[in-house]
Amino acid sequence: MKILGIETSCDETAASIVENGIKVLSNVIASSVDLHKKTGGVVPEVAAREHMRQISPVIDKAMDDAGVSMSDINAIAVTHAPGLITSLLVGVNTAQTISYIHKKPLIPIHHIAGHIYANFLERNEPMKFPIIVLTVSGGHNELVLLKSHYEFQVIGETLDDAAGEAFDKVARLLNLGFPGGPVIAKSAEKGNPNAYTFPRAYLDKKNKYNFSFSGLKTAVMNEIRKSGPQMKNVKCKMINDIAASFQKAVVEVLSDKLVKAAEEFDAKEVHLAGGVSANKALRETTAKKLDNKIPLKYPEKLIYCTDNAAMIAGAAYFLSKKFPERVGDWSGVEVYSQLPLR
Ligand code: KG4
Ligand code: ZN
Repeated sequence: MKILGIETSCDETAASIVENGIKVLSNVIASSVDLHKKTGGVVPEVAAREHMRQISPVIDKAMDDAGVSMSDINAIAVTHAPGLITSLLVGVNTAQTISYIHKKPLIPIHHIAGHIYANFLERNEPMKFPIIVLTVSGGHNELVLLKSHYEFQVIGETLDDAAGEAFDKVARLLNLGFPGGPVIAKSAEKGNPNAYTFPRAYLDKKNKYNFSFSGLKTAVMNEIRKSGPQMKNVKCKMINDIAASFQKAVVEVLSDKLVKAAEEFDAKEVHLAGGVSANKALRETTAKKLDNKIPLKYPEKLIYCTDNAAMIAGAAYFLSKKFPERVGDWSGVEVYSQLPLR
């Protein structure tokens, strides 16, 4: 089964052809990130205009790269939520049009389900359930229990900022650029992670699997204000030390809650998903805490960590296997996603 996936929830215009949920035949991504660097964050209006410009050439290239024509495609999958509504609409309207003209079933996919299924791309061995997934990116931060295919239970989420959002905001405070994750990670490699003791919000028992990063962000901001004049020189050691100490605080909380949840829910696998899953420190710290007791997986390629359409096509395949009656049905898409819509 070959599915054309389309993803336009934020600033990446992406299309991909995936066979049977695993084999990636093509994966095309046009990012408007350079335009957003000027503003230090994604401007929805700018992102939507870029999607309009890019969507047709990106889909054409995905078809060409895979060497397929519409007659080879079994279904069209598209991200329907969550995301920037003006961005989502470009992908959804395009997918609806292709589906209508070529008489192909349309499969709406939840963006976070997509990130979760990015871990299944290019995997040969079968997954073992239950799986605990930490979904961490710019817009979302959840702990999800995947009991079987497409059976999600959100057991924790952020009470304020998502981890990626915290990386982006701190990078902005440090004048390191956008997106923040990769630049903070790079700066952190040269810094001392124990130079500053930033707060870690483990929260009370009721919130043991929830997250909060706003206090950490404020603590970093206060430290930067205090050290004001010295921060002017972007090459200074202090920036690297703050980046390293901040990253350590985020990674410790994320990995700690993930590993505790894995133990409590008797997970057979632990997964990292979403843009922040690209973070080396997060991967290494989580692996160390798991101590080879439970296998740790993250997307096979870095390109599957951040937004892409292969994960959407992959998720659509597993959804269509589990709920064949739902393919092409837009009513109650949330019912089987069980994931937050914003
Ligand atoms: O999944 P994604 O592409 O978009 C959303 O669904 O939000 O994730 C983007 C986020 C950004 O906040 C970015 O700073 C973060 O992922 N990110 C990273 C790394 N690479 C990307 N965060 C930490 N370390 C990284 N290496
Ligand atoms: Zn995403």
